[in-house]
Amino acid sequence: MNSSRKFHDLTARERLDVLRDAGEISSDDAAELLRINELGVLSADVAAHIIENQVSQYALPLGVVRGLVVNNKSYVVPMVVEEASVVAAASHGAHMAARCGSICATSQPHRVLGEIVFEAAEVSAERAREIVVSCGTQLFEIARAALPSMHARSGGLEKIDVESSDNGTFTKILLTVNPCDAMGANAVNTIAEAVKTTLSQWLNASALVAILSNSGDESLTIAEVELTPQSVAVRGTEPEELVHRIALLSDLAQEDYARAVTHNKGIMNGISSAVLASGNDTRAVEACAHAYAAHSGKYQPLSTWHVNKSGNLCGRIELPLQVGIVGGSASSLPVAKIARRLGGYSNVTEFKNVLAALGLVQNLSALRALAGPGIQAGHMNLQMNALALAAGARGSEIDIIVEQLRALPSQERNSAQAARLIDELRACE
Ligand code: MEV
Repeated sequence: MNSSRKFHDLTARERLDVLRDAGEISSDDAAELLRINELGVLSADVAAHIIENQVSQYALPLGVVRGLVVNNKSYVVPMVVEEASVVAAASHGAHMAARCGSICATSQPHRVLGEIVFEAAEVSAERAREIVVSCGTQLFEIARAALPSMHARSGGLEKIDVESSDNGTFTKILLTVNPCDAMGANAVNTIAEAVKTTLSQWLNASALVAILSNSGDESLTIAEVELTPQSVAVRGTEPEELVHRIALLSDLAQEDYARAVTHNKGIMNGISSAVLASGNDTRAVEACAHAYAAHSGKYQPLSTWHVNKSGNLCGRIELPLQVGIVGGSASSLPVAKIARRLGGYSNVTEFKNVLAALGLVQNLSALRALAGPGIQAGHMNLQMNALALAAGARGSEIDIIVEQLRALPSQERNSAQAARLIDELRACE
């Protein structure tokens, strides 16, 4: 191989050769990654053009939650996740909620903020305001010219505000953009950079940054559900006692930072998995959700649960969701395209409503398990699958080994036993 070529200039096969020759990957692993790349869900040329330094493909299972009823419509929600219990828990949560009717969800208009920031020593907030007021029409024209197709669909730049940063060091020009059904990162960045270029000339100052904000606080989604105690009943706990304990767990998350983080992690189990399946940016969604959880100055749970006067369990979730149903990587990821079709979302608001509802039922399942038998009991079957697979069971062996592991006393259900059972099974064949 020509050693003058840089790693990122090589083909996937060549990159794997480099890693193998450098002792950074075993020959077997390199061969396996090459095989996956050549037979994987993405064609090798598509995979090569999505990210830098691509060497193979990484597969995760795609599952679906069926019967998530939101605003009286039943959805099939595709999810991609490595954690065994997530889809099962979401499905169960969706089922419990559907027994009591529909989850109600609403979203504020889908908007994304961009900021162009100057040092206040160079551009005062007063000076920036003067320019925005006197030349606002031209700035809107520049934004329109930067993204004509979005403006033609009644989207694009909607509002320009000026603010000082908290301690007055910076002057911020805030752009509120309507990205239509897209997530908005590209739209906002394109508009922000176009506006920045002109503003910098007019103000005779160099802007420090022009970029979207992943805060999303101005576009919130809320989902609410009311469940009878019987619809969440679990063996071994009185239904009224169970809903009371779920409400107490919600109170605990309000007070206890350590618990709030785990509570929200459970919510994001559902949301991030559906976001990943849809080909959206999971990091943007996670960043804006957790930042919103702390927007009061104290990190708080994104959902709350209480028992109302009728004795029913009421849940509510509120969070920003930076996602889209058009554009983004889904355009090049065939399975994400299919997942978007499977979800059947006719606009981005519908998708956001479904995501919030999914987070709420995911949270419900977790709290119900925690308030009832504990989380491990429900995970047992799934853990047996994981043990059998990790020990090397394949094909028809998997179910046999899972059954045999389940029959063992709980303290003996481990990887060594799984390996022993596989050896015994194979010895009998
Ligand atoms: C596990 O992935 C998520 C939970 O820990 C969430 C929670 O504790 O609420 C079960």
